[in-house]
Amino acid sequence: MSQIVSPSLLSANFGNLQQDLDMINNSNADWLHIDIMDGVFVPNISFGPPVLQYVAKLCNKPLDVHLMVVNPMNYLDAVKALGARIMNIHYEAETHLHRAIMQIKDAGMMAGVTLNPSTPVVMLKDIIADLDLVLLMSVNPGFGGQKFIAHTVDKVRELRELIDATGSKAVIEVDGGVNVETGKLLAEAGADALVAGNAVFKADDPQAVIDALRAL
Ligand code: DX5
Ligand code: ZN
Repeated sequence: MSQIVSPSLLSANFGNLQQDLDMINNSNADWLHIDIMDGVFVPNISFGPPVLQYVAKLCNKPLDVHLMVVNPMNYLDAVKALGARIMNIHYEAETHLHRAIMQIKDAGMMAGVTLNPSTPVVMLKDIIADLDLVLLMSVNPGFGGQKFIAHTVDKVRELRELIDATGSKAVIEVDGGVNVETGKLLAEAGADALVAGNAVFKADDPQAVIDALRAL
């Protein structure tokens, strides 16, 4: 088993983004995770499309976009214009999830649904067959560097069972407080992809951490 690794740009040094993007481009990272926040769905604001257009130009990895915003489908065109590989929208932010997923796929992107820590996996039962990815939050979204919520490991197991039972092809990705230690538990439980912000960007040797996570 090996993990897809998606370093989270939120923990990069915005004073010298070029340097961190060079590090990512020269690493074995599989994707670059992009957290878009609106200060309404989550109590923080990150970056928006004008900044991300430059990131997209400077980064040679597929973009894994995580929208922590209300009305996420208002951003479909903007995310598509970035050339993103994946568009993740929160279950809690979209009433018409089936229609939204179809629209994301029609736009040529992988469709992901994100669950907050308090949202049960079973809520995806009737949509799982249509999903390309499920992003399980292992912290309450909004900030990097938070403590991993251990119950997420049980949710990964439950989601793996749901996926296997339905023949869904959805990738299981986990976001928040992931490091080599918590990543190992997630990988053993059936995760396919790990997002890591602080564990990568605050490390002395970020590329070695990316390799260690990929090897889990
Ligand atoms: C949190 C974001 C995460 C965050 C992860 O709301 O969705 O992607 O950047 O950061 P770490 O890995 O430091 O918890
Ligand atoms: Zn995220």
